[in-house]
Amino acid sequence: MNIVHTPAELRAALAPFQSPAFVPTMGNLHDGHLDLVRQAVPLGDVTVASIFVNRLQFGPNEDFDTYPRTLQADCDKLADAGCHVVFAPNERDLYPEPQTFTVAPDQALANILEGHFRPGFFTGVCTVVMKLFQCVYAESKGPRHALFGKKDYQQLMVIRRMVEQFALPITVVGGETQRAADGLALSSRNGYLSAAERAEAVQLAQALRRLADATRALPEASFACAVGQLEHEATQTLNRRGWRTDYLTVRRRRDLQAPAHGDSLVVLGASRLGATRLIDNLEC
Ligand code: PAF
Repeated sequence: MNIVHTPAELRAALAPFQSPAFVPTMGNLHDGHLDLVRQAVPLGDVTVASIFVNRLQFGPNEDFDTYPRTLQADCDKLADAGCHVVFAPNERDLYPEPQTFTVAPDQALANILEGHFRPGFFTGVCTVVMKLFQCVYAESKGPRHALFGKKDYQQLMVIRRMVEQFALPITVVGGETQRAADGLALSSRNGYLSAAERAEAVQLAQALRRLADATRALPEASFACAVGQLEHEATQTLNRRGWRTDYLTVRRRRDLQAPAHGDSLVVLGASRLGATRLIDNLEC
């Protein structure tokens, strides 16, 4: 496996290939990332992963400084999963000067849910992903795939829209959320949890499951106002256990707006347990 740090080194490493299959990450890899890498391998003639903690997508009071940087362990895992090239730029390699041009996503999608609670998050994500795409696919002429986890459900939708609207010749693939044995969605931030918090953390997935089940049982006549009541009760139940919930909500899958009876649904949640903010979702 080849580990490169600059865009020029990446281009040189990828020059012999036509069809990169690419998994962007911020490192501190877990089985969710590695599952994406394993899915990527048959999709291209070279499998590329990036490891870059992107300052642009962190708010001023978020965990940019403490986000775990575990490059050697990540590279060992990537090699085992079949990755061929790791792109691990430092900040100056990717942002040699302040990034004054940015990619501003569709407000209707990017200012709700995660974008509401993390202002600027999706602009930071889209800007770095667009830049990473330029670096990874610069030399390729064949089919190009990029893989993102469904755990970041809204992020996956924003990236899909960006790819469509800029007519990028890239197929975006969404990978299923990987879960621990108790049902907790795998996340790099799970490592922040104390033992007691880790035991409690599965309650977020369980709250989403109960909210999904209760929503599916609603009759058409009272659907719209009853969904709001169920969301409120689910939030109160979680908060009574000591969580601080940003949202627990039922949305229609196609645009994450409020659902009507009969829509394909997704329930999404973001909540803080101690100092750790966890997100999860469930299609239902
Ligand atoms: O999902 C992530 O890890 C990040 O948001 C991404 C897509 C690698 C961009 O920094």
